[in-house]
Amino acid sequence: MRIFNTVSDLRNYLSGLRNAETEIGFVPTMGALHDGHLALMRRAKACNEIIVCSIFVNPIQFNNPEDLKNYPRTLESDVAKLESVNCDVLFCPSVGEMYPEPETKVYNFGPLESVMEGEHRPGHFNGVAIVVRKLLEMVEPNRAYFGEKDFQQLQIVKTLVKLENLNVKIVPCPTVREPDGLAMSSRNIRLSPEHRAIVPEINKCLADIPVLKNNMTVTVVKERIHQRINKGDQMQLEYIEIAHSDTLMPIQSWPEPGQKLVACIAVQVGNVRLIDNHQFNS
Ligand code: PAJ
Repeated sequence: MRIFNTVSDLRNYLSGLRNAETEIGFVPTMGALHDGHLALMRRAKACNEIIVCSIFVNPIQFNNPEDLKNYPRTLESDVAKLESVNCDVLFCPSVGEMYPEPETKVYNFGPLESVMEGEHRPGHFNGVAIVVRKLLEMVEPNRAYFGEKDFQQLQIVKTLVKLENLNVKIVPCPTVREPDGLAMSSRNIRLSPEHRAIVPEINKCLADIPVLKNNMTVTVVKERIHQRINKGDQMQLEYIEIAHSDTLMPIQSWPEPGQKLVACIAVQVGNVRLIDNHQFNS
């Protein structure tokens, strides 16, 4: 695997491949890689001739300085994991390399960014959009792979590609879970053993919604989940929202059958913040 730290080295290497019309697949990450990330890499490897991964903990998408400080950084083991899935190129820029000048761009994603993560993490999606656009322009991949684990981020990225007319296909990939249902996340390694034991409840709450919806209103379902999460005083619900999956517009009542919905949740557990979601039909 080739490792590049500068944009010019990365571009030099990739431009030769692009001239030879090599198909490039790209997986942007913030490192602390787990099987969820590797599933994206495998998917990319199966459909492209060359795959590129980036590892960059993007400071401008963190609205909480403590979260940025505590974000796990495990480059050595990340490199070994990337080699195990035959990744061809790793791009690991410094903050100065990515942001030689302060960023001023402000995107308007409309209602997509005013709910859920957008509402609770002001500025987060603007920071995501800025870095994803820069990375896509640096790598110029044919396809870029994003996880449904970050469902709202995926919708933001799809919208960004349309807004900016970027020439890339965005490929959504399903959420990879631990055997007990917990969605894999780089933040999971920061959970205490006690907290790790209770967090599978988050996925269980979401999995129950398609059954609960048969005899409860949307408001009552959300209240039940609120009570279940907060029951033992160890977890605090930040939000539970049920929305149309394409627009992310929250629903107040169950729509007629056959509509695609998504339930999204954010929970604070000690000093770790976890998000998850489930898609289902009304
Ligand atoms: P990061 O959290 O490292 O995630 C990188 C990619 O892996 C994202 O597309 C994310 O949705 C996907 N992913 C994470 N956990 C997953 C899981 N359990 N199953 C499937 N896919 C999973 O998301 C980011 O980084 C950043 O915001 C980034 C897009 C790199 C911009 O900085």
